[in-house]
Amino acid sequence: MERIRSNSPCWCGANAKYKRCHGDRRLLRRDRVQIGAVGPPRPVPDHIERPDYVITGTVGTPRSYQIQDDESLPRLRRACRVAAEVLQEAGRAVAPGVTTDEIDAIAHRAYIERGAYPSDLHYKGFPKSVCTSVNGVICHGVPDDRPLDDGDIVNVDVTAYVEGMHGDTSATFVVGAVDEPTRALVETTRQATLRGIDAVRPGEPIRRIGEAIEPFARSRGFTVVREYGGHGIGATFHAAPQVHHHIARHDTERFQVGMSFTVEPMLLSGGTSFTQADDGWTERIDDDMPSAQFEHTVLVTEAGAEILTVTADGIGATSRTSVAVPAPPA
Ligand code: MF3
Ligand code: CO
Ligand code: CO
Repeated sequence: MERIRSNSPCWCGANAKYKRCHGDRRLLRRDRVQIGAVGPPRPVPDHIERPDYVITGTVGTPRSYQIQDDESLPRLRRACRVAAEVLQEAGRAVAPGVTTDEIDAIAHRAYIERGAYPSDLHYKGFPKSVCTSVNGVICHGVPDDRPLDDGDIVNVDVTAYVEGMHGDTSATFVVGAVDEPTRALVETTRQATLRGIDAVRPGEPIRRIGEAIEPFARSRGFTVVREYGGHGIGATFHAAPQVHHHIARHDTERFQVGMSFTVEPMLLSGGTSFTQADDGWTERIDDDMPSAQFEHTVLVTEAGAEILTVTADGIGATSRTSVAVPAPPA
């Protein structure tokens, strides 16, 4: 798959140059997302079990893989199911005029109702229960009093701690009427996430994920963030391996049956440089062009990978029913 060029015919099959069709930067461009006021952390009832880092205030640097067995896997499944349910509830609340803090409140209640601790809350000092990343914010946006605007896109990233296990999942939602090139960014990111997961085979190198994602993204005119990858997850929130979403030729680590990790590519529609805001969290693209992300926690099986972050009905971040984006023409 070749990188698409401005004057090439658009990938969608319409009789137009890419730059006048899905590559129209005038439609993609957004105003800079201003950081709003952040309210106090939401309280978690005492009976809910906390991860270690909340109690000690420090996060270790684990080098170990997270390998599940018959005892741990059912617990990880339950954590991942809760994360998928919380994401679904949060996603239903996304609408023009709703603030990202209101989404945080809805997610926070959904975790608590299920006996889960919101893993983000007090992780390295993070003050809220989900991340909400709007438009040109690539990740780690802090929920605040900014109302979502018609035409925005917002990623909601949910991590639930249940029975000693973390389940991590996110989706990008469209707010009201979103232009076609921006919808295509979201839809391409959704498909890229599934392509990455489909590339998992026990014994194969982990770099197969990035080899599946990056050429696909580039064929539609998008680039892949290199600085943030997926991560091993289970009893530890962020563990080995580091999962690159771009082509990482020198990565020789391999998938093992029972390994659990996330796949969470961030795709960009403009430049690749970004800067952390003064809040110490929000990672904002310097040219304010929108970015999108989806995330699942997956398990390596004999056959490939199983997506764990799904509801009892099998619905998850990348299901069509979870995000209102039309399929682009093949
Ligand atoms: N859920 C994010 C991930 O995908 C991590 C968020 S950590 C926070 O790995 F502190 F920013 F919340
Ligand atoms: Co993650
Ligand atoms: Co996440």
